[in-house]
Amino acid sequence: MAEYNIAVIAGDGIGTEVVPEGIRALEAVGRKFDITFRWDEKDWSCERWKKTGRMMPEDALEGIAGHDAIFLGAVGWPGVPDHVSLWGLLIPIRRVFRQYINLRPVRLFEGVRSPLADRKPGDIDFMIVRENNEGEYSEIGGRLNAGTAEEVVVQESIFTRKGVDRVLRYAFDLAQSRGKKHLTSATKSNGIIHTMPFWDERFQAMAAEYPDIRTDQYHIDILTAHFVQHPDWFDVVVGSNLFGDILSDLGPAATGTIGIAPSANLNPEREHPSMFEPVHGSAPDIAGQGIANPIGQIWSGAMMLDHLGHANAARAIVTAIERLLADGGPRTRDMGGTASTREVGMALADLV
Ligand code: NAI
Ligand code: MG
Repeated sequence: MAEYNIAVIAGDGIGTEVVPEGIRALEAVGRKFDITFRWDEKDWSCERWKKTGRMMPEDALEGIAGHDAIFLGAVGWPGVPDHVSLWGLLIPIRRVFRQYINLRPVRLFEGVRSPLADRKPGDIDFMIVRENNEGEYSEIGGRLNAGTAEEVVVQESIFTRKGVDRVLRYAFDLAQSRGKKHLTSATKSNGIIHTMPFWDERFQAMAAEYPDIRTDQYHIDILTAHFVQHPDWFDVVVGSNLFGDILSDLGPAATGTIGIAPSANLNPEREHPSMFEPVHGSAPDIAGQGIANPIGQIWSGAMMLDHLGHANAARAIVTAIERLLADGGPRTRDMGGTASTREVGMALADLV
């Protein structure tokens, strides 16, 4: 029997509603595949910030450094500036634990209507690989003459050869492992004239090592248009922290709802725990009503199982999601249904 120690950070808003459904599905699959989870629940959140001035305790990360994985809902709440919640919790976890890959599958399921006309299952099925540790999300910069007419604000991006090469390497290897052997790079080397030409150079240099992979690259502006008009063109798409972030909301939106999109923040060397969370945020507009879609959280649980080496158990969860959607099972309002978060979670656990 396999046993895992999982840090659970439900966070804020709908994070606290979808995480229990993720745990329900994982418990169900655990019973079937003989996997035991010890859930170490943490109250790290905006709620905690309001009480203590910190999103998480000072020694928080040391306390979970030895855990097998982190299962996170969402953080962020009105009244707490978004940069405080993000930089007080999510970004430190991603960076301290060197989770430099953010992997985000995008897939149109059978039984789901895409907002894009005439798209059917199979037309949209690709992976976004987002750089997760550096790039445009940087603390380097500052503000001069604040509040005056001479105000100056500078924000620097950080692109290191090590950081760029390792995310590109991961994306090439992932493309190699898939049938289409096709990798697309998101760039903007016409407007951003230092970091992006460097990104393109490293992409081309690495492409030479993978002669059987078809590569292409697009500037981010036209790439977003292609995501809408030609989502069938893509198999693996690699982008910097900012571009990957944008593309991974756009991609799932094209498959019907962001509520089903999962993600894995991976430390591929496994020297530190990796973290699994839905792509969506805390959705204050629908929080507290029990109507959030739990599929993104549940699918993130499947990605966690995959990472822990339980591919069959992971597949059981994804198959349950496929069945629920294809067979007209209960669905939440964002997918045109009337079911509650819990009803969808229970139905999925039953299917597992
Ligand atoms: P959001 O993803 O929370 O919500 C965007 C829209 O999608 C809303 O209309 C929401 O109702 C809907 N939505 C999202 N998830 C859904 C689900 N599971 N089921 C049904 N509908 C869903 O993004 P927004 O509004 O930009 O951010 C809200 C807060 O969440 C902010 O504080 C933001 O910083 C934070 N956030 C946190 C993230 C994280 O923890 N990884 C990621 C994105 C945002
Ligand atoms: Mg995002």
